[in-house]
Amino acid sequence: MFTEQFLRKGLKTRLFGTKIYTFNSVDSTNNCAKAVAECDAPEGTLVVTEQQTAGRGRLGRPWIAEPNRNLMFSLLLRPDVTPEKLNLLPLYVAVAVSEAIEKVTGLNVECKWPNDILYNGRKIAGILIEGSVKKNAVDYVVVGVGINVNQEKFTGDLAAKATSLKLECQKEFDRAMILQEVLGSLEDKYRTVSSSGFESVVPQWLSHTTMVNRQISVSQQGNIISGVVKGLSPNGGLILETNGTQQTVLAGDVSVLQV
Ligand code: BTN
Repeated sequence: MFTEQFLRKGLKTRLFGTKIYTFNSVDSTNNCAKAVAECDAPEGTLVVTEQQTAGRGRLGRPWIAEPNRNLMFSLLLRPDVTPEKLNLLPLYVAVAVSEAIEKVTGLNVECKWPNDILYNGRKIAGILIEGSVKKNAVDYVVVGVGINVNQEKFTGDLAAKATSLKLECQKEFDRAMILQEVLGSLEDKYRTVSSSGFESVVPQWLSHTTMVNRQISVSQQGNIISGVVKGLSPNGGLILETNGTQQTVLAGDVSVLQV
């Protein structure tokens, strides 16, 4: 089981993990991080659990992960960005988490807009960002990350769509070490993008994806938009070209049609 003391040993960050809450089981680390954020918890507060009873994914989906074998955590940020820039946060997190996974495993993972991390087309990690805006300013952002680490079996729908570090590398990983690497990567990148502007993550994200020039479709509450990916807007939207006309999509569920 994760303990604060155990996680602190080997943690190379200065800001992320200043306060650490560990649980055996909790409904959702994002819920917990939002609750402490509302009570003025400092930036860098970390919530980690071995199990979630109501883990949440994007678009109201559940996040299902075997207890004691994966990583499920949330990090509280209070970034100095305008609400219009919040769409860049998932991209920053996706790049930082991808780089940490690559460093630890040697796998060449890939970012799928807006915030999935895939290996060979299967999801290896997911990110759920939830922000609070007060008086037209960002009060806090909760960065929820789920990484499939040592899980060996995925059932139902997930059997064809998900994978884990262990399944891809044929070895068991030390979850605390991975969490420490991920937090280090998130903190390093947070410092650089906070000083150079969150837009600076756009070219970094593009270098971690193969979506550009692919035909995709985006589902937005029953409405489907299809087109070819041309890049990202400075605010992190997906630029799609359909019949010679470009549009920027800010949210939705993407299916890649042409591989
Ligand atoms: C997605 O891929 O749809 C996002 C998944 C995010 C899952 C993580 S696990 C830790 C944190 N707590 C939650 O309830 N969700 C995120």
